[in-house]
Amino acid sequence: MVDMERWIRLRVQVQSYDLIVPCIYRKVDGFKSMYQSNDGATILEQMDVDNQIAKLMVELSRSQDYEIGDGTTGVVVMAGALLEQAEKLLERGIHPIRIAEGYEMASRIAVEHLERISQKFEFSVSNIEPLVQTCMTTLSSKIVNRCKRMLAEIAVKAVLAVADLERKDVNLDLIKIEGKVGGKLEDTELIYGITVDKEMSHPQMPKRIEDAKIAILTCPFEPPKPKTKHKVDIDTVEKFQTLRQQEQKYFDDMVKKCKDVGATLVICQWGFDDEANHLLMHRNLPAVRWVGGVELELIAIATGGRIVPRFQELTPEKLGRAGLVREKSFGTTKDWMLYIEQCANSRAVTIFIRGGNKMIIEETKRSLHDALCVARNLIRNNSIVYGGGSAEIACSIGVEAAADRYPGVEQYAIRSFAEALDSIPMALAENSGLQPIDTLTAVKSQQIKDNNPYCGIDCNDVGTNNMKEQNVFETLIGKQQQILLATQVVKMILKIDDVITPSDY
Ligand SMILES: Nc1ncnc2c1ncn2[C@@H]1O[C@H](COP(=O)(O)OP(=O)(O)OP(=O)(O)O)[C@@H](O)[C@H]1O
Ligand SMILES: [Mg+2]
Repeated sequence: MVDMERWIRLRVQVQSYDLIVPCIYRKVDGFKSMYQSNDGATILEQMDVDNQIAKLMVELSRSQDYEIGDGTTGVVVMAGALLEQAEKLLERGIHPIRIAEGYEMASRIAVEHLERISQKFEFSVSNIEPLVQTCMTTLSSKIVNRCKRMLAEIAVKAVLAVADLERKDVNLDLIKIEGKVGGKLEDTELIYGITVDKEMSHPQMPKRIEDAKIAILTCPFEPPKPKTKHKVDIDTVEKFQTLRQQEQKYFDDMVKKCKDVGATLVICQWGFDDEANHLLMHRNLPAVRWVGGVELELIAIATGGRIVPRFQELTPEKLGRAGLVREKSFGTTKDWMLYIEQCANSRAVTIFIRGGNKMIIEETKRSLHDALCVARNLIRNNSIVYGGGSAEIACSIGVEAAADRYPGVEQYAIRSFAEALDSIPMALAENSGLQPIDTLTAVKSQQIKDNNPYCGIDCNDVGTNNMKEQNVFETLIGKQQQILLATQVVKMILKIDDVITPSDY
């Protein structure tokens, strides 16, 4: 028997959850004025929710983001649909535990069905097109879809540059994403190395150093400061001259020490005064000053150098090495950046994003994150399914057909699960300005008639709804994870007896 009180509570929870679904469910192409993003996880993250179930939804999209990196909207839409269906089943007198069991069975059927309709995608370092196409599907639902081809290529090249194809592993930490306001999105580039937002300390220093040997210093270019207070009386010109010469000698010794060990570039955490700067220029030793601690560490790791805290400790083996260090200017803004490329020790790459304003750069970063994750997932497992809701419709048909095999009450829940799967193609149709139910039924009957699991929603009015022809691909593991995570969270909600908030007391 259904616990009526519990049912009412669930209903209240579902309704407050309804508040968040429309926000991301109806996200349309173009800017979301409130959240300035089209990424499900980002929208939910910024949403100020205090409802417990809504918090679970935020967690849900976060886990999808963490595991897969894409599909964070789909997973919440799916969970929402499952909750909606659960409400109807509760109304019909089915116990929540039975619903949870039915959902579990259905999710297993769906995941297996996905495996069956999936295809292996062969790619190699010389044939990256399949990877690019899949990343393009991910990017096509983003605000930056204008440049999807270029961004997808950058993402794939970046992932391949750091990937260990033998172990099928990718360390995404090696891909740094940097952005600088200015220029166009089309100017975004992939750098095989690292960038530092600094310039040479003197404008006349060389802007390009090949085969650089880099001294990475955390000591300032200045004479040592005595620790106790004392006074120097300078009452003659000679004394002044001696002092000056002494100071100069300090600088000279420092520069000489760097040159002696073979450094061709000095990167310094601290500044150096004009005298030192002038000397460095004259002695033909390019230098960069005021480089932050984190960047310094990164440079040291990438170039295989050691951070040196004292000039006396400088030795040739402590120098970092890079094939090319160059300074690049940006437009008329007199903005300079230092590119350290072909680093000795690391395959680290940097994606350098340009864009008209900070918002577009941030959104590009988030979109690139999705694309990078998709490329990584494909390297781990090269199976794909087709997008545009086609995989969900195929699963829905498969689950519906399997429901008859179950004699118990669970079959109602299994059927409801099949219905919930339809919510993704319906959302896609609605967001593309199509009639959701009409479109879904037409596509579904076509799938059954032609026995073709590739039919989906023709969102962009291309003229065919065969997603294979449209090159709309998604990763198998991403889709499977969506279904599994959504089911898990809904099962958990169904098992909640009560939500007690401290304010109730
Ligand atoms: N050209 C296309 N035609 C039809 N459907 C498409 C096309 N490109 C993408 N899609 C579909 O759009 C859906 C993805 O939408 P979107 O990227 O907004 O959400 P998400 O991936 O679930 O979440 P997020 O990207 O915010 O983490 C997928 O179902 C995908 O198959
Ligand atoms: Mg996406």
